[in-house]
Parts: sequence; structure tokens; C-alpha cells
Amino acid sequence: MAKRKSEELSELKIPAHVAIIMDGNGRWAKKRLLPRSAGHSAGSRTVEQICDDAWSLGIKYLTVYAFSTENWKRSESEVATLMDLLRKYMKNCLERSRKNNMRVRVIGDITRLDDDLRESIVTLTRESASNTGLCFTVALNYGGRDEIVRAFRKMLADYDSGRFVADDITEEMLSEYLDTYDMPDPDLVIRTSGEIRLSNFLPWQSAYSELYFTDVLWPDFDKKELIKAIEYYSGRDRRFGSETSKN
Ligand code: IPE
Ligand code: IPE
Ligand code: MG
Repeated sequence: MAKRKSEELSELKIPAHVAIIMDGNGRWAKKRLLPRSAGHSAGSRTVEQICDDAWSLGIKYLTVYAFSTENWKRSESEVATLMDLLRKYMKNCLERSRKNNMRVRVIGDITRLDDDLRESIVTLTRESASNTGLCFTVALNYGGRDEIVRAFRKMLADYDSGRFVADDITEEMLSEYLDTYDMPDPDLVIRTSGEIRLSNFLPWQSAYSELYFTDVLWPDFDKKELIKAIEYYSGRDRRFGSETSKN
């Protein structure tokens, strides 16, 4: 039986880069008559498990949406809860990256975060930089439009200092100014909790990603659900604009 399972898995086409919009923590808590903070805590445990599951399935890059540029609109107490959780999460993540060899990065505008959180992100990024396991990216105070605006600011500064002329601008060049400059585009974007939208997550990078939506709430998302998403991905015919399959 175990053998059959591994044979079945070996037939799957494993995406190199999976990006996840982790949604539904609040509804998960509400269903259990718990405070929203309990949903966020449960959600952060799910992230830890999914990192290990993703790597064991052969996924090389995992990117998760943890806090959007729009999430500041939530109540002061919810934002404070999320920031506290992220603080704890970053500390644990340093320990875990030492054990499981994961390389951790953060995308988004971290200048708006408190000093201590920003410092722990810098430490985590630096200390895990040469790890060779899963490349795990946390999108934190991330918004795709904000990322493009920040990219334009950096680009314009280089333009002003004469590093390039307008005709030099290409898609590849713009990509290099984005926070994701050193990672491949996501092959598969997953969103949990039944919402069918991208909510400003990787709009440039997901132009040709396969999209998978599930009703499962984020704290309930597990390896079985990840395999379902990969099964869906395996059945897709990625054409990238051509008339025939590239698979
Ligand atoms: C996702 O869960 C976590 C964050 C956006 C930080 P939500 O908090 O959005 O949960 P729902 O959508 O209210 O259920
Ligand atoms: C998207 O979830 C952001 C994260 C998962 C961090 P939201 O719950 O904030 O998105 P909307 O408001 O439903 O679009
Ligand atoms: Mg939500």
C-alpha cells in the first residue's frame, strides 16, 4: 500500500514554486467559537508543517502571503496580534531553518515594521542565506502594486544616474527590480477558504501561474490537501501562449 502511494506520487508533476494565499483563519476560529487570534495561531502552525511537507514532495520554492499592505485596515488589536505572532514566528523560524536547512526570505516593504521585527527578519535572512533546502519566502506587508511602485522608484533612480536608457527596459529588467528578483515565477498559486481572488498577491509574477482554489480553511490545510492541489496542477496543460502543450 505504502509502495503504491509512493508510485502514485512519483507520477505527479511537481511544481518548482508554489505560492499560497493563506486565508480563512478568522472563519476557522469563528466556527469553533474561538477568538480570531486562535485562528491565526493555528494558521502559523500549519505554515510550519507545510514547509516540511512541500520539501518532502520535491517543491523547491514556497512563498506564503502572511500580511498584505491592505491588512493594516484591520482593527488595531488584530494588527497587534498578527505582528506579535509574526515576531514569535520569525524567532522559531530561525531555529527551524538551522534544523531543516531552509533558506528564508521576506518580500514586501519591511520599512513599515517595528525595529525588532525588522531586525529579526534581517538576522533570519542572513543566517539562512547559504542553506540549500527549501527556499521559503514570507510575503509580509506585501502588496503587488506596492512592489511595482517601489520597483519603479528604484528604476527611476538608476535611470537618473544614467545606468540605462528607456529602450533598455525589458520585462526581464523590470523583474530584476521586484522583491522576487532572485526566484522563479510561481508555477502554482493556491488560495484557501473559498475566495476566488488574488488580493494583490504576486500580480506580475503569476501572469502564467496555474491557479487552485479550495474551500478548506487555512488552519485545516495539510499534506493531503497540498497533494490534491498538485494533482490538479499535474492535469493542467500549460501553453504559455503557444498552440501546443509545453509539457
Ligand atoms: C488569513 O486569515 C490571515 C491574514 C489575512 C493575515 P483571515 O484573517 O483573512 O481569515 P478570514 O478571511 O477572516 O476567515
Ligand atoms: C489576503 O487575505 C491576504 C493574506 C492572506 C495575508 P485577506 O483575507 O486579507 O484578503 P481579502 O480582504 O479577503 O481580499
Ligand atoms: Mg481573509
